[in-house]
Amino acid sequence: MIPRLNHVAIAVPDLAEASASYAALGAKVSEPQDLPEHGVTVVFITLDNTKIELLHPLGDGSPIAGFLDKNPSGGIHHLCFEVEDIADASARLGECGIRVLGDGKPKTGAHGKPVLFAHPKDFQGALIEFEQE
Ligand code: CO
Repeated sequence: MIPRLNHVAIAVPDLAEASASYAALGAKVSEPQDLPEHGVTVVFITLDNTKIELLHPLGDGSPIAGFLDKNPSGGIHHLCFEVEDIADASARLGECGIRVLGDGKPKTGAHGKPVLFAHPKDFQGALIEFEQE
């Protein structure tokens, strides 16, 4: 069900500093992109086999503000696996006893594609995003 890792998302307190760190390693670093409907500003680091997504809070009530409060120097926030069919993925998670966050229905994610998140307590403490490609 999860053939490919789409991205690793890292919450960072300083987007410019984090971008510079990756650029210094020769990585392909995007310009910052504000996603107000998701409460984040993102920078994409494109590698040959996956992406790193740097997340920084945008506006009030950002979903990553609490994470940065607990992890002031930043940290890995979630992993994202690609799935062919988000409805199938949702059903499969249910069969495995893994709760889906929110109302359990897929949402439009930061890349404009359907996503859902599995509850970290049901996934060894890791927040996992599933994205339909
Ligand atoms: Co993500």
